[in-house]
Amino acid sequence: MPPHPTELPPPLMTSEPGSFARSTIVERKPQIIRQVIEDNGYPPQIEQALEMFKAEIASQPMRPLTEQGPDVTLWNRELAHHRGRPWGDAPWYFAESYFYRRLLEAVRYFQPGRWQGHDPFGKQKRSQEDMAVDRLAHAWDQLTEAEPEMAFEALLHSSLWGNRADLSNYTVAIEARNGLATTEERGNILIDDTDNVRELLAGRTARGPRLRRLDFVNDNVGLDSLFDLALADFLLGQGWVQEVVFHLKNHPFFVSDAMVKDMRAVISLLQTSHVPTVKSLGQRLEMHVQEQRILLKEEPFWTSSLMFRDMPPALRVDLAHSDLVILKGDVNYRRLLDDRHWPYTTRMEQVTDYFPAPLLVLRTLKGEIIVGLEPGQAEALTAQDPTWLINGKRGIIQLECA
Ligand code: F6P
Ligand code: MG
Repeated sequence: MPPHPTELPPPLMTSEPGSFARSTIVERKPQIIRQVIEDNGYPPQIEQALEMFKAEIASQPMRPLTEQGPDVTLWNRELAHHRGRPWGDAPWYFAESYFYRRLLEAVRYFQPGRWQGHDPFGKQKRSQEDMAVDRLAHAWDQLTEAEPEMAFEALLHSSLWGNRADLSNYTVAIEARNGLATTEERGNILIDDTDNVRELLAGRTARGPRLRRLDFVNDNVGLDSLFDLALADFLLGQGWVQEVVFHLKNHPFFVSDAMVKDMRAVISLLQTSHVPTVKSLGQRLEMHVQEQRILLKEEPFWTSSLMFRDMPPALRVDLAHSDLVILKGDVNYRRLLDDRHWPYTTRMEQVTDYFPAPLLVLRTLKGEIIVGLEPGQAEALTAQDPTWLINGKRGIIQLECA
């Protein structure tokens, strides 16, 4: 039985002493603002707005949006639930998502003029993409020669480990040397449904493949979404699925989250590769997009402050047509679980029974929340590695197919 609303555990708050949620606001957000100033050569007016924003985060209440825009009323209505609260005493996910919207106001992203539509994280994204295509090029020939079963596993695991390096978290990004799958990494997968996922995807009925439509709720640029693309290409090529839908962000979010333009950029980049097999991967992906076997979709809900439980009805209906939704990354996982302090041994289905489609979670651990562990497992992990929940070393491949 799903828990009754009055029994819901408390949300993660930015006020929790010593928490990662707290250091996200106190240290990481100012650092993100500094990087945006350094990368973009903004005029003094915008730099000043960013500096004022930084000062507000340090000690003042969260102020409403003041610009014009179609989403402003909605954001300010959400903010009203936390009226007068400082950044350091707010529900963590609300504070973070609102931070990105306020940053876009400060850099005039939505306002007519020179900076309209200019991605403040674009420079970081491009270098991440270059690095990712380079890394893929080193491993790709070997992968394409493997038997389908092996290739599938390597691609699935690479899609997981590619999530290690998100650009909003510099510490993990620096430490996450290897985004590609290796067999030694197997021990770092705390929940590993690889075999069931393979069976589900490769399975056939008398009428053909078991699954028709596969969806990704994508996360970051770089190896993360590059391997989503490679996995999609593999599954289409094997005939294991017929259609893949990518759900992307409609504007810059959490620094490295991929937008439609970022996916198009990486598909173009692949096509310029000097490695013939990488170039043809790029060409095949281009065809998949043109012929609508891969759909690149954006939707404002993904950049909102809402939890997945509060998904708009039209999106819920759309996802209900999917045979499997692959949910990538830490923030998506937090939104799936209402960003609350669930006991670690809570079964995932107890919380996610509202989700409209079968679900596969590919997430590396970078936030203080997890469910689905065995009794004693969390305690053993803490004894072994005190920062296991946030250091991005471990991951989960968790299938929820009621
Ligand atoms: O900032 C909160 C957080 O969940 C971090 O833990 C993580 O670094 C970041 O968001 C983004 O993670 P991801 O790109 O995997 O969603
Ligand atoms: Mg991200």
